[in-house]
Amino acid sequence: MEIKKVACIGSGVIGSSWATGFALKGYPVMLYDIDEKFLKTAKERIAANLKYLAKNKVITEEQIKEIMGRVSYTTDMETAVRDVQFIQESVLENYDTKHKVIAEVEKYAPADAIYASSTSGLLITEIAKYAKHPERFIGGHPYNPPHLIPLVEITKGEKTTDAVVEAGKAFYKSVGKEPVVLNKEALGFISNRIQQAVFREVTELVTRGVCSLEDAGKAVTFGPALRWAIMGPAEIFQLGGGEKGIDGLFKMVEGSVNMWLDDMADWKRYPAGWWDYCRKEVDKSIAARPKEIGNTDASLAEYRDDMLIALLKLHNKL
Ligand SMILES: NC(=O)c1ccc[n+]([C@@H]2O[C@H](COP(=O)([O-])OP(=O)(O)OC[C@H]3O[C@@H](n4cnc5c(N)ncnc54)[C@H](O)[C@@H]3O)[C@@H](O)[C@H]2O)c1
Repeated sequence: MEIKKVACIGSGVIGSSWATGFALKGYPVMLYDIDEKFLKTAKERIAANLKYLAKNKVITEEQIKEIMGRVSYTTDMETAVRDVQFIQESVLENYDTKHKVIAEVEKYAPADAIYASSTSGLLITEIAKYAKHPERFIGGHPYNPPHLIPLVEITKGEKTTDAVVEAGKAFYKSVGKEPVVLNKEALGFISNRIQQAVFREVTELVTRGVCSLEDAGKAVTFGPALRWAIMGPAEIFQLGGGEKGIDGLFKMVEGSVNMWLDDMADWKRYPAGWWDYCRKEVDKSIAARPKEIGNTDASLAEYRDDMLIALLKLHNKL
């Protein structure tokens, strides 16, 4: 099915960012929310996103108007979905709201329009439980902000067809995303589980007194994360093994690695007081950074986004 027009249902942090991204790639977008006041904020967010992209020479100032013109705003569901082929839902993260929205959407949307939920962790089978067409439901979990970060994690429910997964994947690729498909549902999907695995070990090292939180961060940023920003950990290990490859590398270091694995964190809950400790340490380490690489939460966020844009340009993703 050819996707010609997209609806974004829910215009909050994620919905307005999705709308920015789809419009940026040339799609007409219907942005829906329950109240005009949310749409007004969304319009301001989209304008700010585009202004930032223009500042970073991803688009020109003249293009801002044209891209903004591709987004229509409505509080009427029929207007939002009656002639779209792809629906990206980003409403509140609970089954009740998602079920109510689906009942409304299915009254007016074409029966074969793909319905992708931005859900961060609800089950698609459960989201599509009362749907008339559960076969067209996927999870399309973005990484914030979706107009910049390429990753989308696609999940399917029990009744989702493979054709819908493939069509969703093709659409996300067409807007410059890097979709990954979960073959079965898993809490936290892929990327959040990997993040927690890394942060559990950071916690272990710091609480054992092996290093400071700041140095654990540097050990990630200026070590593995630089390489992970280029390719996956398995490819990195393959290169690490030289001619021997990933298998040869692990045969060589297996004895050592087994000792590390025995010694590494495998607990199930963060220790009491850990997050209060983190907050104090992070506030201190941010304040101690040179000003030009961000030494307040706001300037650090700006530095992060500037670096992100530079990396995405290197990846040909902008
Ligand atoms: N914020 C993140 O970092 C992030 C990342 C990935 C995925 N998500 C997921 O994206 C979804 C949206 O999250 P968010 O952070 O944008 O939330 P948000 O609170 O910023 O936005 C939610 C929007 O949904 C609207 N809404 C509420 N009820 C509605 C209804 N019945 N019909 C239409 N719209 C309705 C609200 O008015 C609001 O504008 C959630 O499922 C969340 O789990 C969030």
